[in-house]
Amino acid sequence: MWRRLFANGAAVRAVVDRIDTQIGPIGMLANVAGILRVASIDALRDEDWDRSFAVNMHGVFHLSRAVAQRMMPRRAGSIVTVGSNAAFVPRMQMAAYAASKAAAHQFTKCLGLELAEHGIRCNIVAPGSTDTRMQRQLWTNRKTKKGVIAGSLPAYRTGIPLGRIADPEDIASAVLFLLSNASRHVTLHSLCVDGGATLGV
Ligand SMILES: NC(=O)c1ccc[n+]([C@@H]2O[C@H](COP(=O)([O-])OP(=O)(O)OC[C@H]3O[C@@H](n4cnc5c(N)ncnc54)[C@H](O)[C@@H]3O)[C@@H](O)[C@H]2O)c1
Repeated sequence: MWRRLFANGAAVRAVVDRIDTQIGPIGMLANVAGILRVASIDALRDEDWDRSFAVNMHGVFHLSRAVAQRMMPRRAGSIVTVGSNAAFVPRMQMAAYAASKAAAHQFTKCLGLELAEHGIRCNIVAPGSTDTRMQRQLWTNRKTKKGVIAGSLPAYRTGIPLGRIADPEDIASAVLFLLSNASRHVTLHSLCVDGGATLGV
């Protein structure tokens, strides 16, 4: 049900309103759900493109708008969008993913700009390769975990200078920092957590 919900603005608003009134005021939002469709552009189907934007961008928009509407009268809140380092650096066979993540990054920054006067902060965590189901679907005979760390010149992909794939906890701690009061003067920021893979761009 949640899969369909994120792409449906009215349904998202109804759920957010219910949580806010029945469970308690929402003070923090982390937009984490995402999908990755891997295909070269000539083979990319309309459905791959539409679905990538539905989840990675429209979901962020629907949830952030609904939560912001609840936070604004209270003049407090923090929103973090988990984007991707692919929003900064082009990646082979990831056009739909990278474009949808770039849109989510810029949306989150515009949101942060509008919400600053309401005391609400909006930031981005941009992970690189992280050991989850999404990452493991990329580890095939042709592309292994070691290969991801080493990088690939034919794919125009640098390796990971820190020499490891991130654990989910590495990303979660960056999200928690940006959601918490420890970052109370940080907004409109993209925090890249990729072991240096995109060379600090
Ligand atoms: N794993 C990586 O290497 C990596 C790199 C960069 C960015 N990211 C980003 O990190 C976030 C988390 O990804 P992950 O690596 O844990 O991937 P994952 O595939 O392991 O998990 C994705 C999660 O999103 C949920 N989801 C997908 N579509 C949904 C929908 N329509 N409605 C509700 N939930 C939905 C799934 O149920 C799942 O729990 C994503 O935004 C992803 O783009 C991951």
